[in-house]
Amino acid sequence: MNLTNQKPFIAGNWKMNKTVHEAIELVTKICNSSSDLASETNMVVIPPFTALNPVHEILSVGKVQLGAQDVFWEEKGAFTGEISPLMLKDAGCNYVVIGHSERRQYFNETNETVNRKIKTALVTDIFPILCIGETLEERKKEETISKIDTQLTEGLNGLGKEEIRNIIFAYEPIWAIGTGLTAAPSQAEEVHKFVRAKLAEKYGNDTASCAIILYGGSVKPSNTFSLLKEENVNGALVGGASLDAESFIEITKEAIKAYKEKK
Ligand code: PGA
Repeated sequence: MNLTNQKPFIAGNWKMNKTVHEAIELVTKICNSSSDLASETNMVVIPPFTALNPVHEILSVGKVQLGAQDVFWEEKGAFTGEISPLMLKDAGCNYVVIGHSERRQYFNETNETVNRKIKTALVTDIFPILCIGETLEERKKEETISKIDTQLTEGLNGLGKEEIRNIIFAYEPIWAIGTGLTAAPSQAEEVHKFVRAKLAEKYGNDTASCAIILYGGSVKPSNTFSLLKEENVNGALVGGASLDAESFIEITKEAIKAYKEKK
């Protein structure tokens, strides 16, 4: 399967929410209301590990795909508490979030561990969703672009063009995650444009032009259209608003509308 940004990509990161029973309920609602959207968008749900398998059983009849929230860089062994990419594949995952700011902030994730995780996911044929973003302090000090630059350089270290084509990028300003504050569309576009330019410089225009670059941070139905109308915004990584089927579907519809308008 090849990644393409010809359709908007909408992923719902459920974080540490939903028991198996609740996850089944949510994904059933999402599937029931999304059958007519599937051809115009890529939709992915990202439940906690415990719900991956049961959610996959429901998804297998529809078009919505499955992702995980993290992965370890070894395939198996004595690593108590970790989940390997083979296990994610076995549970039906096609995507995995790597380097989410909550992992970087609370669980010592570094650009180096991010890099190792990306490499293992790619070997297992799972598309990594690489998260990058600055803190409020860094933005105030006008260090946003240099922070993103370092995260990309170190996170993608040692990877070639073909591998880059299988990575999804998610710009998530940390100050906008779960805070209700959203980056203005122009702020998001500035960073997305930089990410694409950096990919073009290192891996060529072909690779850069088809890269999927998502925005994340308090995405909701009311701000999706304006964000996705920006030239370099190809979709959204949604946290809180993906926990409710109606708002997740509404976000997807708004994304499709925005994409139609910018074509
Ligand atoms: P949020 O989370 O939409 O709740 O801000 C986004 C994310 O962390 O991916």
